[in-house]
Amino acid sequence: MVSYKELGLVNTKEMFAKAVKGGYAIPAFNFNTMEQMQAIVQAAVETKSPVIMQVSKGARNYANATILRYMAQGAVEYAKELGCPNPQIVLHLDHGDTFELCKDCIDMGFSSVMIDGSSLPYDENIALAKKVVDYAHKYDVSVEAELGVLAGVEDEVSSAVSHYTKPEEVIDFSQRTGCDSLAISIGTSHGAYKFTPEQCTRDPKTGKLVPPPLAFDILHEIEKKLPGFPIVLHGSSSVPQDEVDTINEFGGKLPDAVGIPEDQLREASKSAVCKINIDSDSRLAMTAAIRKYLAENPSHFDPRQYLKPARENMKKMYIHKIVNVLGSNDKL
Ligand code: G3H
Ligand code: 13P
Ligand code: ZN
Repeated sequence: MVSYKELGLVNTKEMFAKAVKGGYAIPAFNFNTMEQMQAIVQAAVETKSPVIMQVSKGARNYANATILRYMAQGAVEYAKELGCPNPQIVLHLDHGDTFELCKDCIDMGFSSVMIDGSSLPYDENIALAKKVVDYAHKYDVSVEAELGVLAGVEDEVSSAVSHYTKPEEVIDFSQRTGCDSLAISIGTSHGAYKFTPEQCTRDPKTGKLVPPPLAFDILHEIEKKLPGFPIVLHGSSSVPQDEVDTINEFGGKLPDAVGIPEDQLREASKSAVCKINIDSDSRLAMTAAIRKYLAENPSHFDPRQYLKPARENMKKMYIHKIVNVLGSNDKL
C-alpha cells in the first residue's frame, strides 16, 4: 500500500472547493503515453494550473498500470524540475467499473477514483459507489460517481428520450453514496462523433456542423439542489475542426467529426462544473501532427522526429483549454 501523499500528489477536495468558488474548472486530461504526460505537465506548469491526470482501464491495459503510476509520480518531480515548487497534480482513475479496480488504484497511490455505475439500476449504482467511498475515504482519496448515462451518437438529443441526469435524484444520490463529486449527463458524450449530422444544423458560411446546445437548464437545476457541490462533465472534447481538417488532408478519414463548442464549455466552467474531461482532443492533436509530419518527411523514421511535433501540438491544445476555456490558469 502506498499513499498518494508520499508521491507528492493531492486529492481533489481543496482544488474543487476553490474551483467552484472561483468560477473555473480543473482540466482532467487522459494520458496513455510519455509524450502526453510531458505535454500535460509542461502546459500545467507554464500556465500555473492545477491538473488532473487520468488513467482509464484501457490506458492501464495499454501502458501497464505500474508504469502509469510511476509516470504520475514522475510528473510531480518533472513539474518541480520545470520550476513549479508545489504542483497540484491529481492521479485519477477514469471510469472505474468495479470496487476491485478502484481499490487496486487506491492501494497503488491514486489520489482520486471514479466509480462509474451509471449503467446500473439506481440502487445498485448507489451501493457500489458507497462501497468505494467507504474504502477510499479511509485513505483520504476522493471519489467521483456518475448519475445519468452519457448520450451515444445514436441517441436522440431531445431530453424526453435521453438519459440525462434527473435533478430530483441528485440529493438522495450524493447523500447516500457520500461521493465527493458527481458526473452528470447534460448532452456531452465520448469520442470524436458526439452528434450525428441529423442532430446538428449546418453553418451556411462554412458548411460545418453546428451541434445542439447542452442542457444548461438541467445543470442549473442540479446546482440549485446541491449548492456548491462539485459537478463533473465527461465527453467534453470540442473536436477542433482545424485538427480534423489536417488529419483528413494528410490521408485520414474523419468525416463529420463534431464536438462540444468551446463557448458552452466556458459557460459550464463558470458554474458548479469544476472538472472537465478531455481525451479525444489530445488524440486528434497528436494524430494530426504525426500525419502531417510523416506526409511532409517521407524519409524520416525516427519516432522522436514525429513525436516531438505531436507533443508540441498537444501542449498547445492543453494550454488553450486551460487559459481560454476552463480558466484554471494562475491558480497555484
Ligand atoms: O472516457 C473514456 C476516455 O476517453 C478513455 O478512453 O477507454 O479508450 O482509454 P479509453
Ligand atoms: P472526450 O472523448 O470528449 O475527450 O471525453 C473524455 C472523457 O470523458 C474521459 O472520461
Ligand atoms: Zn468519460
